[in-house]
This record gives sequence, structure tokens and C-alpha cells, in this order.
Amino acid sequence: MDITVVGLGNMGRAFTKRAASLGFNVFWWNRTREKVKDAPGTPIAELADARGLVVVFVADDKALFDILPKLGGEYVALAGTYSVEGVRRAVELLAARRQVGFAMPVVGSPRNVEAGDAIYLVGAPDDVYIKLRPVLEKFGVLFYVGDSVKAAALKLAYNSLLISTVAALGESLSLAVKHGVGPDVFKELLSRTVFKEIGGRYIDRMLSGGAPTFTIKNAAKDMRYASLAAGEVESSNVAISGVKALYEILTAMGYGDEDYVKAGILAGRK
Ligand SMILES: NC(=O)c1ccc[n+]([C@@H]2O[C@H](COP(=O)([O-])OP(=O)(O)OC[C@H]3O[C@@H](n4cnc5c(N)ncnc54)[C@H](OP(=O)(O)O)[C@@H]3O)[C@@H](O)[C@H]2O)c1
Repeated sequence: MDITVVGLGNMGRAFTKRAASLGFNVFWWNRTREKVKDAPGTPIAELADARGLVVVFVADDKALFDILPKLGGEYVALAGTYSVEGVRRAVELLAARRQVGFAMPVVGSPRNVEAGDAIYLVGAPDDVYIKLRPVLEKFGVLFYVGDSVKAAALKLAYNSLLISTVAALGESLSLAVKHGVGPDVFKELLSRTVFKEIGGRYIDRMLSGGAPTFTIKNAAKDMRYASLAAGEVESSNVAISGVKALYEILTAMGYGDEDYVKAGILAGRK
């Protein structure tokens, strides 16, 4: 099966590399072609030339509805993180054109995507899943949901928990450090509690200067979509709204391209 990847940012590039390493015939499209330096496969000039299984990794709902009107391909997997309403409308729009669209958001980083151990929340209906499963399972762990709206909601529920957790961790670390407690002491305390894995995984990353693979502006977008999804079903939204505000303020302050794990410590900077 041909695979076309649309949107070659951090995630799309990683997916392209995985697809090429598995021996698929890979095509790709990116709005800004010259930004893409290290992707295997064949660039296509027009979205209409997308073919086979089209995997969409553009940033947000606006980008999704910018590319959809002209997008070719038989199956369209919406692999970026989009709003519940955006996914609902995108799947309807594709169905009206006799293309099979479904949500397939990803839990994991670009590194996981490239290594083949990311988790894909597959919202495709049964018959489509049965057909595509032999291809999709080569890309990582499949978590079958069977409904695109539920897959989108599950991804937003997971991301709002993860993003809120790292934001709270950063603010807590900052509180301790500003009172003279070293980060290692805070980390050592966490290592003796239920927070062992979270502290071990995120504190060093918060304090280091590595290139971000998931940005503050993308996290702000996820929290906005999570807040909308909660509002739509009248679910409580107080913590989600607070964290959303933190990421939106940091984006407005010019920190949008920083690593999302740094939010809690950046917010305390003068
Ligand atoms: N990074 C992660 O760890 C991660 C994990 C899970 C899910 N996700 C989700 O996956 C998606 C992609 O994430 P990413 O980290 O790869 O983002 P990214 O590096 O910021 O890349 C964004 C991509 O979207 C394209 N784009 C933006 N606006 C567009 C528009 N109006 N029309 C067409 N293309 C547009 C960009 O094209 P240009 O190059 O032209 O700007 C670029 O290819 C997001 O929805 C994100 O939330 C990311």
C-alpha cells in the first residue's frame, strides 16, 4: 500500500522515516517544502496527488481544514491532535467525497513514532480496521476505539492529564527551588513516592536546554480543545481551564516554541 504523509513537522517526519524503514512506498506533502530537509520518500506538489493511506499530521484544526478540501487518497487517518468537533466535521466531509476518514491520534513522541513503539488510538469502524490493521500494526501499538469522536476525546483526556501534570510538577519544583531546596533533593523525595517515574522522567528535561519535540503552543492548543470537549458535555473544567490559561499566556509571552515540560518553571521567571 502507498502511504502519503501530510504535514512534515516533528511527528510527520518521524512517521515518514518509520514508513520508509518498513519498505512502504512513501509520498509526502508539507506546506513549506523547504523546511523539510531530512525526510525519505517522494514529495508531491499537490494535495490532490496524495494516494493510498494518507496520514495527516498538520498542527491543528485550522491547518486540517486548510488541507482537507483538496486532499486525495483512499483512506485518511487524522493522526494529529484535533478538536472533537473538528474530527466530527472532517470525517463527515471526507465521507461526502467517498473517502474513508477516521481519527488515529498518537500517544507518544516523535522518537516513539520513529522507533515503532508509539500508541495509536484507532477510531476507524470495524470493517476499515480489519482491512488496515495489517498495515497499521507495523507502526506501533494499536489501541482500538472504533469511533473517531471517542478516539479524539480519549486523546484530549490523556493529553490534558499529562500536560497538567508536568505544569504542576514545574510549579512545585520552582516553589521548592526558590526556597533554597535543590532540584536533586526534590527529585530524591519524589523517588520515594508515587511520583517516582514522573520526577525521574521530567525534572532533568525541564532543567536542560534540549530541542523541544512538543511545544508550548501545541500544548496550549490541546488544552483549548480539551476545555471545549469538556464544555460540550458539561464535564467539570476548572483544572483544565487553569492549565490552558497558563500555556496560552506563555505562548503570548513568546515562549510558544519552548518545550512544553518547561511551562511551570518559565511561568515563574521575571
Ligand atoms: N510532537 C509530539 O510529541 C506530538 C505527540 C502527539 C501528537 N502530536 C500532534 O501531532 C500534530 C503535529 O505535531 P508536531 O509536533 O509534528 O507539530 P509541528 O512540528 O509544529 O509541525 C506542524 C505541522 O503542521 C503544518 N501546518 C501548520 N499550519 C498549517 C496550515 N495552515 N496548513 C498546512 N500545514 C500546516 C506545518 O507546516 P509548515 O512546516 O509549513 O509550518 C508542520 O508540517 C499536532 O496536532 C500535535 O498536537 C504531537
